[in-house]
Amino acid sequence: ASTLGAAAAQSGRYFGTAIASGKLGDSAYTTIANREFNMVTAENEMKIDATEPNRGQFSFSSGDRVYNWAAQNGKRVRGHTLAWHSQQPGWMQSLSGSSLRQAMIDHINGVMGHYKGKIYAWDVVNEAYADSGGGRRDSNLQRTGNDWIEVAFRTARTADPAAKLCYNDYNIDNWTWAKTQGVYNMVRDFKARGVPIDCVGLQSHFNGNSPYNSNYRTTIQSFAALGVDVQITELDIQGGSATTYANVVNDCLAVARCTGITTWGVRDSDSWLGAGAAPLLFDGNGNKKAAYTAVLSALNGG
Ligand code: G3I
Repeated sequence: ASTLGAAAAQSGRYFGTAIASGKLGDSAYTTIANREFNMVTAENEMKIDATEPNRGQFSFSSGDRVYNWAAQNGKRVRGHTLAWHSQQPGWMQSLSGSSLRQAMIDHINGVMGHYKGKIYAWDVVNEAYADSGGGRRDSNLQRTGNDWIEVAFRTARTADPAAKLCYNDYNIDNWTWAKTQGVYNMVRDFKARGVPIDCVGLQSHFNGNSPYNSNYRTTIQSFAALGVDVQITELDIQGGSATTYANVVNDCLAVARCTGITTWGVRDSDSWLGAGAAPLLFDGNGNKKAAYTAVLSALNGG
């Protein structure tokens, strides 16, 4: 196959990208995005601050722009993200205790209700683990009680039973890291107790401090063995090594329950890291990079 999406589809997987609503008027951007990718994640537009700027007043205009662009072009959508310590609107930042817990529940119901039946998978909870030590990150949500994550998942299952429900985080790619083990133990516990979770998102932002490691395949296999799908949800590789990109793709292809890969942007110039990091598959002029060729070839079976 000659595009990323079609090549991934040969094994029943998807290949996606983050889309920014503000770039949908850039035809160079939309031409590549529409041609190459068959899954879309809104880079910012479905986050808490964007969708509920005032308590109880939901705003879906920019989220819908991304959703509608995807749907009109035949692409599925991952929802990102419902419960997160970051990008909370001011009103939510100032809440605590039971009123914050209720606001989280109301937010999940409001956003998932709006997109009910339209989302392939939701990142229900994002980045809840601390960067070191293997425990939870301190946050206003965590201070509402350790059960906030399972409450979020149970709420989400009821709000849209058709959506896969994911836990999504960064630096859980390296199997030997305490953070990876902390998330693994949470998912194992959820599966053992019947808390509804369907997938784990490995963000996979690789850089000098958190480089790709060959135990990545072990991480994917280990999560999958718990009975959840694994999705690579925000892939970018600082420097854009073609070899590393191919390794990532081959590690996903090696695990049946690794269902798809999303890169966190289209061109280097679209990356949150800045164009200088050269972390994506297309350069700032929209040309295919060596990493693109390596990914396409791996998806096509090497
Ligand atoms: O929308 C405003 C705009 O009005 C204003 O003029 C401009 C000035 O700085 O800021 C704009 O908002 C920025 C927004 O991106 C849209 O460009 C925010 O300041 C900026 O913080 C925000 O950054 C996003 C970041 O998440 C925020 O946490 C990045 O685009 C986005 O790529 C990044 O994505 C995260 C994932 O959601 C979770 N995992 C990590 C990943 C990378 O940080």
